[in-house]
Amino acid sequence: MSTAVSSNTSAAPGTEERPLRIAVIGSGPAGVYAADMLTKSAEVRDGLVVSIDLFDRYPAPYGLIRYGVAPDHPRIKGIVNALHKVLDRGDIRFFGNVEYGTDLSLEDLQTHYDAVIFATGAIKDADLNIPGIELDGSYGGADFVSWYDGHPDVSREWPLNAKEIAVIGNGNVALDVARVLSKHADDLLVTEIPDNVYAGLKESPVTDVHIFGRRGPAQVKFTPLELRELSHSRDVDIVLYEEDFDFDEASDAAVKSNNQIKTMVGTLTNWLVEQDDDDADPTTGASRRLHLHFLHSPVEVTGTDGKVSGIKFERTELDGTGNVRGTGEFLDYPVQAVYRSVGYFGSALPDVEFDHQRGVVTNDGGRVLGVDGTQVPGIYATGWIKRGPVGLIGHTKGDALETITHLLADRAELPVAAVPGIEAVTELLDSRGVKFTSWEGWNELDAHEKALGAAASETGPVQRERIKVVSRDEMVDVSRGASVVG
Ligand SMILES: Cc1cc2nc3c(=O)[nH]c(=O)nc-3n(C[C@H](O)[C@H](O)[C@H](O)COP(=O)(O)OP(=O)(O)OC[C@H]3O[C@@H](n4cnc5c(N)ncnc54)[C@H](O)[C@@H]3O)c2cc1C
Ligand SMILES: NC(=O)c1ccc[n+]([C@@H]2O[C@H](COP(=O)([O-])OP(=O)(O)OC[C@H]3O[C@@H](n4cnc5c(N)ncnc54)[C@H](OP(=O)(O)O)[C@@H]3O)[C@@H](O)[C@H]2O)c1
Repeated sequence: MSTAVSSNTSAAPGTEERPLRIAVIGSGPAGVYAADMLTKSAEVRDGLVVSIDLFDRYPAPYGLIRYGVAPDHPRIKGIVNALHKVLDRGDIRFFGNVEYGTDLSLEDLQTHYDAVIFATGAIKDADLNIPGIELDGSYGGADFVSWYDGHPDVSREWPLNAKEIAVIGNGNVALDVARVLSKHADDLLVTEIPDNVYAGLKESPVTDVHIFGRRGPAQVKFTPLELRELSHSRDVDIVLYEEDFDFDEASDAAVKSNNQIKTMVGTLTNWLVEQDDDDADPTTGASRRLHLHFLHSPVEVTGTDGKVSGIKFERTELDGTGNVRGTGEFLDYPVQAVYRSVGYFGSALPDVEFDHQRGVVTNDGGRVLGVDGTQVPGIYATGWIKRGPVGLIGHTKGDALETITHLLADRAELPVAAVPGIEAVTELLDSRGVKFTSWEGWNELDAHEKALGAAASETGPVQRERIKVVSRDEMVDVSRGASVVG
């Protein structure tokens, strides 16, 4: 373990006297996997000594696992347990509540570390540029996710007053958003949702949530498990439309060659058949309905008095390649709220070249490039900020492996940090009044949230394993009640 040794600036980086100092910015899965893989690399097994500090702007670790994954997805716990074990070993220091760009600059990092890995992910919605998207009642799905997951920096209030809602997009986030919007709040009470989220959802008058995809059933970007899960919501009927079930040659080829597509087309078709077997009324009489529409391309969000009152689509048709073209037929749906879930988009980082088309840090296999396209020595990227906001948690492992392989291959050319001592960063943050949190602090907050869940279980109608603390100040206070790293 290298973090316990003090550093000597005259020795070559990578020894007990002078470990190779690496900062990882972002403690989502990509950042944690990169840090973990570095500590387990062949070079380290062969004697290289690394010392890694992991920073996050949130007081808690795990990125989108805490502030993206839906609360009714407890199966993700296995991954959290694995990441917890990595950080619990004690050889990677965690600094929460530290933001790159405000609390620490690139120059600070270059002064204290021989290499920096950006793993800052994505938290914002991609734009959907159609008229009316700015109307009151039109929301980004990512913002709603942040609200229901108790993100510390978003408003505690969320307007849930629409009876009919449109969700645009056929990815897993659209499914999450639509499922949470259509579920009964009481069925989410067993999860870790904050109290204000339960209270907000409980008041929702929603009856119909419509998910719209611009392409066909064989072009959805869902995954099979997440699609099937829609049918598990109590008192929510799924409604499909026969005219949306169209397949071109590319669709047939996709069904034949891709098991996931085959399974999902099978699921959707079975639902349609079951619904058609139930004579004229496709529903069971549930109080809420989730409609799945395909071949609908959004054209305009329509409004009255500045508020959403409907949405207009152009019906599309498949063009043989799995893509679609407009048919010139337009369809209007009365809705009082629109959620766009057309993908996430990464945010630019100060002093790091950014590809504004793709929303990623400009890089080649994780090696960050400068404005002239050449490698910036010692600066790397991994995860969604390297590759774009696509893929599951497990996919960030491959990113991390590529990035750390390149970093270790570049080792001889890394710039040598001027102030590599492990206490120097702590002192710098303290001198700036940054109230950083530690791994011990996270364990304290984790235990506190579990205790809140246990207390609510004693008095409430259901067992609750955890209730999330939302306020940043409260998170920091609880965390800093424990011993602080140093
Ligand atoms: C709504 C949603 C639900 C999802 N659900 C699932 C699921 O159920 N299962 C699954 O396998 N995958 C799921 N995914 C995908 C999964 O979340 C991503 O694949 C994964 O989180 C990407 O990891 P990352 O580390 O690159 O980014 P992130 O998880 O976004 O982590 C980035 C971290 O960097 C930190 N950071 C950002 N900027 C700064 C800064 N300036 N200074 C310091 N720190 C900073 C952030 O605070 C964050 O902690 C979901 C994604 C979304 C959007
Ligand atoms: N439970 C889980 O495992 C889980 C949960 C959430 C997210 N995730 C993962 O996180 C990643 C991001 O998910 P995501 O849903 O944000 O993105 P995504 O999978 O890329 O889906 C985006 C959807 O938006 C549509 N879209 C894009 N632009 C559009 C436009 N202008 N008009 C209409 N529709 C448009 C896309 O249609 P086209 O295909 O036609 O472009 C696609 O259906 C994915 O890899 C996802 O699997 C996983």
